[in-house]
Amino acid sequence: MFASTIENNVLELLPHVEFRGQITTVTTKSQVLFAVQYLSDQPVLGFDTETRPRFSSGRMYMPALLQLSDGNRAFLIHLKKTGLPPEIQAILSNPAIIKAGAAIKDDIAGLQRYASFEPAGFTDLQDMVREYGIVEKSVKKMSAIILGKRISKSQQITNWEAYPLSNAQAIYAATDAYVCYCIYNKLIAHSNEKKTPRQRMYEEILVSADSLLRDESDHVANMANVSALIKEKFNFWWVGFYRVDSKAKELILGPFQGPAACTRIPFGRGVCGTCWQQRKTIIVPDVEKFPGHIACSSRSRSEIVVPVFDRERNVRAVLDIDSEKINTFDQMDRQYLEELTGLFKNNY
Ligand code: SME
Repeated sequence: MFASTIENNVLELLPHVEFRGQITTVTTKSQVLFAVQYLSDQPVLGFDTETRPRFSSGRMYMPALLQLSDGNRAFLIHLKKTGLPPEIQAILSNPAIIKAGAAIKDDIAGLQRYASFEPAGFTDLQDMVREYGIVEKSVKKMSAIILGKRISKSQQITNWEAYPLSNAQAIYAATDAYVCYCIYNKLIAHSNEKKTPRQRMYEEILVSADSLLRDESDHVANMANVSALIKEKFNFWWVGFYRVDSKAKELILGPFQGPAACTRIPFGRGVCGTCWQQRKTIIVPDVEKFPGHIACSSRSRSEIVVPVFDRERNVRAVLDIDSEKINTFDQMDRQYLEELTGLFKNNY
């Protein structure tokens, strides 16, 4: 576990950390395109911005520099020269690319003064560390506690609108993004150690489903792929969707994996119809003890049914998973499967 806090005199004794990878300065359109091509392939980026310091209480300057680092490379984007081009905005709006930084709200607000992009995929380390019992919020202290490394802040109050930046400024700026990248990865690795294989399997499914569903709006295709992902990973007896037919007030069988199943289930009937009616996940540890359970297969012993909502919170389908074993599903399954069905809402 991590220490909740660290004294300055202890911090000063820690080894120094400085970004040693390749630093790329971005000022032209072609450099933007090169940076974007590289950065778009990275699942996690350390993120930071630098703004010219304000010495009187006048208005805030716009951020001068945007730093993004994947650990091997750091890109220093000179916003005063490039603005915030749509290609960079696409990275900042891409939910599949994690941008990890500290106090990112201010950085995002600054960047939005260049262009009104929709931020997605941002993780604030200040929020994240709380779950690990860490009370410190500065990158310097978070770095000391989590990485055991000391970062220098000597360049913080320098002119970030200068071009070219001094070597010390460039290293400082790159290090800030790099350290955020390292802190994020260390925290994730730490929480993964505590995860069960089953949790990790769900997380792998979520990553695949997220990218599949983002590029496809057809529900049948998406339900087919999600059923396949779950079946492949866990080999449950039956995995599939029933879609809501509001006019007929019944559920109709949708894409599934497993043996042939009942095609229509009335509203409020069986586990699936009850899930639709109650608009919530239903876990059935033993199907024989669920009054009204519809036995499409005698081999099904336990079951979980999760609603699929649209953006207006109407139930549009249910995801049904059946197991040959008793007591297969618990709250952990519910949590991950609700996250999974939540991915459909953007398509409805
Ligand atoms: N058991 C479900 C019916 C669907 S099949 O299990 C595939 C129910 O009671 O609604």
